[in-house]
Amino acid sequence: MRAFESAHKSDPGPMPHIVCYEKQSDLGGMWNYTWRTGLDQHGEPVHGSMYRFLWSNGPKECLEFADYSFEEHFGRPIPSYPPRAVLHDYIMGRVDQSDARKYIRFDTAVRQVEWIESGDGTGTGHFDVTAVDHRAGTRRTESFDYVIVATGHFSTPNVPYFDGLEDFPGRVLHAHDFRDAREFTGKRLLLVGSSYSAEDIGTQCHKYGAAEVTFSYRTAPMGHTWPTGLSEVPLLTGVDGSTAHFADGSSRDVDAIILCTGYQHHFPFLSDALTLTTDNRLYPRGIYKGVVSQENPQLFFLGMQDQYFTFNMFDAQAWYVRDVILGRVELPDHASREADVDEWCAREELLDGPIQEIDFQAAYIRDLVDRTDYPEFHVEKQGELFKQWKKDKKNDIMGYRNCSYVSTLTGNVAPPLPDRWMNIMDDSAESFLKQEFGATSPAATASTQPRIPTHEPIRTPQPA
Ligand SMILES: Cc1cc2nc3c(=O)[nH]c(=O)nc-3n(C[C@H](O)[C@H](O)[C@H](O)COP(=O)(O)OP(=O)(O)OC[C@H]3O[C@@H](n4cnc5c(N)ncnc54)[C@H](O)[C@@H]3O)c2cc1C
Ligand SMILES: NC(=O)c1ccc[n+]([C@@H]2O[C@H](COP(=O)([O-])OP(=O)(O)OC[C@H]3O[C@@H](n4cnc5c(N)ncnc54)[C@H](OP(=O)(O)O)[C@@H]3O)[C@@H](O)[C@H]2O)c1
Repeated sequence: MRAFESAHKSDPGPMPHIVCYEKQSDLGGMWNYTWRTGLDQHGEPVHGSMYRFLWSNGPKECLEFADYSFEEHFGRPIPSYPPRAVLHDYIMGRVDQSDARKYIRFDTAVRQVEWIESGDGTGTGHFDVTAVDHRAGTRRTESFDYVIVATGHFSTPNVPYFDGLEDFPGRVLHAHDFRDAREFTGKRLLLVGSSYSAEDIGTQCHKYGAAEVTFSYRTAPMGHTWPTGLSEVPLLTGVDGSTAHFADGSSRDVDAIILCTGYQHHFPFLSDALTLTTDNRLYPRGIYKGVVSQENPQLFFLGMQDQYFTFNMFDAQAWYVRDVILGRVELPDHASREADVDEWCAREELLDGPIQEIDFQAAYIRDLVDRTDYPEFHVEKQGELFKQWKKDKKNDIMGYRNCSYVSTLTGNVAPPLPDRWMNIMDDSAESFLKQEFGATSPAATASTQPRIPTHEPIRTPQPA
């Protein structure tokens, strides 16, 4: 919506008729935190997978919108890893500068998107979109020339089965339904999975007093230097009462099991022909430039990639989709598009580890940004920040959120968190934002405070 508004500002003319269906009651997507799990007040599957004490797991300097810096929003520099509510505030601040809300129908869930061929032999047609408006209690079908699917892909859990789970006496849940780490204070936890959810939920439960956290990996361990109380074991083979058994023959008694086993790309409103079938990868097959459906180029998907970059990648995609719809970008024929997808996928297959993956996703974003008038931003420099973030995590998994990075928009180094992240238990926006940030903050100077990682922040080279 902001992409279309931006085009309209630079070239006033008729604005396309836009309707945005949103099944939640407000904006923010995943960042619109909900305490609910299971079904919502309307009987819709709860979208949210976020939990109470979640903090950004990457530096905010890597997700800064090109046209709206954190400093502009907060009126001063803030630390590099803000808590969830602060990131939500930033997203909402940018939206509030636009007229986006007027296009949105809240509490309205899309049920079906159907392609209606014109029948004149040209292959053209339109979409009939059926949605349920829970406020009005109505269901209606409307027609559109283009459909953009931006429903995310970290909401429908992937839930594997392990022998004996049905008889396990404690809680078994998927990360999607995890909300409050304090539920597990004093408990022995088993987390299955070795990616972001496992790492973050495990470290958070440790922070809030879990007695023991065991991570069980399928392919490879995370390999961090864990503090006492956290450890990694091979894959869970089954559960016998409250005893969990692992592939190396070891076993442990646990009180609760959290399946941090990822999510499915799930589009119940799309037919088999229109849907996108992919696992969580950097360049999903079936979508040209990562966004245009190969099956039907009047259908688009945003944000379906595995994500290092997030907000600004979604923006770059939105600008590109907008320009295809407005006819500013001409799509090549089907075979050329397929060849392009093949080429990117082949490049992805050759990637060896996170450093190359970060460069790959930066190159993908660059490819999009260079094709539209999306404001120039330093995607490659942000890639370098991601590489530093990887090192900082390796260096200190419990302390990396105390590191600071340079904004590629303002050139300013973020101030440090005033205390160790491990010690900050109240993560509300009010509590976070009332703090003084800066070199004079007590934790940065007091020698009695625990050590804060002090890697040299990445400095933006000064212009010659
Ligand atoms: C636990 C967790 C933590 C994360 N932490 C970070 C982080 O720290 N930093 C970061 O950059 N990224 C993080 N992410 C990644 C996150 O996915 C993105 O930041 C971002 O929210 C994705 O935006 P999106 O718009 O693509 O999808 P979403 O934010 O998921 O939004 C999709 C929207 O579609 C709506 N919707 C879905 N189905 C329908 C339907 N049928 N009809 C109508 N509306 C529908 C939903 O209600 C929702 O509002 C995290 C993800 C998870 C799951
Ligand atoms: N604080 C934060 O900001 C935060 C916190 C949590 C999540 N997130 C975001 O949420 C998104 C999703 O992360 P995620 O960790 O949920 O998903 P993910 O990155 O897709 O990882 C899924 C994990 O589940 C494992 N797995 C899948 N099927 C399995 C099975 N049958 N048995 C055992 N293990 C299995 C995978 O193992 P293999 O490696 O063997 O495939 C992998 O370790 C990410 O974008 C992340 O950034 C952010």
